[in-house]
Amino acid sequence: MTKLPGNAGVSLLGDKSLEFYRDPVSFCQQRIEKHRSRMFLCRLMNRPTAFICSVQGMRELLCEKSSLFLKDPTDLMTNMYGDTIVTTNGEEACLLRLSLTSHFTGSCLGSWSDYIASVCERCLKDLSVSGQPESVYTAFKSLGTELVLGLFLNVRAEKQPELFQEISQLCTQHWHGLISAPVNVKVPMWSSGFSIALDARNKLMDIIKDKLENDKEGFVGSLGSLPLPDSSSAAQHLLLFISALIPKALASLLNSFTLALGGNGQEKARRQAAEDPDYLCRVLLEVQRLWPPFIGGRRIADQDSTLMGFHVPKDFGVIYISHAVHRDPEVFQEPDAFLPERWSGRNEGHEHFLCSFGNGPRSCIGAKLTNVFLKEACVYLLNNFDWCLDPPVQNLEYKWLPVSRPANPPTVTFTQRDHTLSGRSDTS
Ligand code: HEM
Repeated sequence: MTKLPGNAGVSLLGDKSLEFYRDPVSFCQQRIEKHRSRMFLCRLMNRPTAFICSVQGMRELLCEKSSLFLKDPTDLMTNMYGDTIVTTNGEEACLLRLSLTSHFTGSCLGSWSDYIASVCERCLKDLSVSGQPESVYTAFKSLGTELVLGLFLNVRAEKQPELFQEISQLCTQHWHGLISAPVNVKVPMWSSGFSIALDARNKLMDIIKDKLENDKEGFVGSLGSLPLPDSSSAAQHLLLFISALIPKALASLLNSFTLALGGNGQEKARRQAAEDPDYLCRVLLEVQRLWPPFIGGRRIADQDSTLMGFHVPKDFGVIYISHAVHRDPEVFQEPDAFLPERWSGRNEGHEHFLCSFGNGPRSCIGAKLTNVFLKEACVYLLNNFDWCLDPPVQNLEYKWLPVSRPANPPTVTFTQRDHTLSGRSDTS
C-alpha cells in the first residue's frame, strides 16, 4: 500500500479551499504535473482530501468501492435543501432512489415528451427575431427554469406568469445564498445573502407545500403516493428539483453545445447532427466530456481503504474532478480536442468512463430526463437556425464553479435557416 503523493498540511493554515475554488482546473493540473500522479492529497474544507483525476480512480470510488466512500450528511447541500437523497446514505438512500427513479424513467419520462417539445419551441423560436446578438446562457437558463417549474410544479410561464416570476426570483435568491457565506445575520435595512436565501427557501417551501396539498396532477400530484421517509421529504425533494442548480446545469451544456457547433466552420457538423441522431449523440457526449457542468463530487472514507493502490485512511475526504477525469490521456487520446468521432472509434462504448452525471449506484437520477431534453433543444436549434459568435472574437475562458460556463457570458447571433428539412421543424 503506497502513501498518497502530496500532503494535507496542518489544520486551517494548510487549507487549500480558497485556491481550489478560485481556479479548480489549474489547481489540479499543477498538482498532477508536480506529483506525476492523477491522484494526490491536499487539505480541502479543512479535511485531508484525496483528489481523483483518472478514469480508473473515479470508477473505483463511485462503482467498485461505493459502499466504503459515503456522502457527507453535513454538506452545504443539506444546509440549503434540508435532508434529501443527495446527502443520505445506506438503506434510506436505496429506498429513496427506488421511489424517485421510477418517476424519471419509463412511462413517466415518456409522458413528459410533449411538454418538453413545447417548452423548447416556446423558448427558442424567437432567438433570431431581433437579428441582434443574444446572451445564450441567459436564454437557456430561462428555458431550463420553464422546464423544471412546468414538469415538477405544474407552473407554466404562459398560464401563470406572475406565480412563475415569483418562484423564479425566489429560486435565484435561494441559489445566491447557497453560494454565499453561511452567515445568518438580519438587521433592519440590511440582510446578508445567506439570510435572504433562507427567507427565500421558506417562501418556496410554503408554495411547494400548498401545491402538494392541492394539486393532484402530474409529478407534484404523484409524489404524494410515493413511500418517502417522512412528511417533509416530498417538499424537500421538490425544492431540490426546482432549484436554480438544474436550469444552470442544463444551460451550461446547451451553451457549450452552441459554442462547439457555432460559426461557418462548423456548418457541416451542424447539418450532420441535424440529420443523424447517432452523430448528435456523439457531439453531446463530447460536449459533456470537455465541459461538464459540475466540477465533481465528494465522499468521505467510512473506513481505512485504498484507491488506485494508495492508502486512504478513515474520515479522509475524497473528491473526483470530472474535468480532469474526462481528460485522462490513458483513456481519451488528444484529451483537449473536440472530436465527436472518438465515440464511434477508439472510445465507442466508453460512456461509462464519463462522470458528468456521477457514476455507479449514486449517479444522477435525472440523467435520462436531461438527455431527452438536451436532444429536443439541440434538434430544434439545428433544424431552425444557423448561428455564430457575435462579435466573432470573444474571451471564452471558462469558470468552473459553481457551474461551468465562460466567465464572460458569450453573445451569439442566430439566423433562421432558409429551408427546414425535418418533420419536427415543421411544427414550429
Ligand atoms: C445537466 C443536468 C444535470 C447534471 C450535470 C447533473 C449532475 C449530477 C451529478 C454529477 C450527480 C452525482 C453527484 C455525486 O456523485 O456526488 C447527480 C446526482 C443527482 N442528480 Fe443530477 N444532474 C443533472 C440534472 C438532474 C435533474 C434534471 C435531476 C432531477 C430533477 C437531478 C437529480 C439528481 C439527484 C436526486 C442526484 C442524487 C442521486 C443520489 O445521491 O443517489 N439531476 N447529478
